Amino acid sequence: MLDAVKRVLSRLSAKDKDTYGHVLRVGVMAQRWSEYYEWPLQENKLLFIAGCCIHDVGKIRIEDAILFNTSKLEPSEWDVMKRHPEMGEKLLLEEGVSDGRLLGIVKHHHERWDGKGYPLGMRGDEIPALARMCSILDAFDAMISDRPYKKGMSVEEAQSELVAQSGIQFDESYVRQFLAIPGVPPRHSKETETDRSATFGSIFSVQMFREWK
Ligand SMILES: [Fe+2]
Repeated sequence: MLDAVKRVLSRLSAKDKDTYGHVLRVGVMAQRWSEYYEWPLQENKLLFIAGCCIHDVGKIRIEDAILFNTSKLEPSEWDVMKRHPEMGEKLLLEEGVSDGRLLGIVKHHHERWDGKGYPLGMRGDEIPALARMCSILDAFDAMISDRPYKKGMSVEEAQSELVAQSGIQFDESYVRQFLAIPGVPPRHSKETETDRSATFGSIFSVQMFREWK
């Protein structure tokens, strides 16, 4: 399974460097989360980290004109973009990944606690726990990251937004856990994207891939 994870990650890196940087940062935060808390991960720690690292892997199959569109997406383009969780699940199945916990993270990381997410509109505890956790990391990194069309929020603003969305978009108990992890994100997180990707990338390769071999 981990070979398949590495294979799809390298394909994602070739297709879309920004998304690749994003998933690595989410993966590193997942690693910190798994180091700091036993519950609810227990024996699923490595799976959680791996799933977070490939949560957006379905974007490999989104056409460039939509994926790299820096202006506002048309509703029809947005519909395509919203298919990336299911595309990711399909791609992984084709790669021989069959672990439901890993597939669940990829397929359900855009579900919302209030049932207004996608692809299935699951709500609350129906959403797999690891996907609920990944959605917090995903949103947090997206909020603090600079984009061509918007400046990223400060870490403090993003933390407040997670609290504000607790019980609405996110599972409140997991938001509380995440916000209590010391040193996440690292204090240098408002440096440039390149600096951050390089930093997170090196942490990722040194600490995580070594474990996977
Ligand atoms: Fe996503």
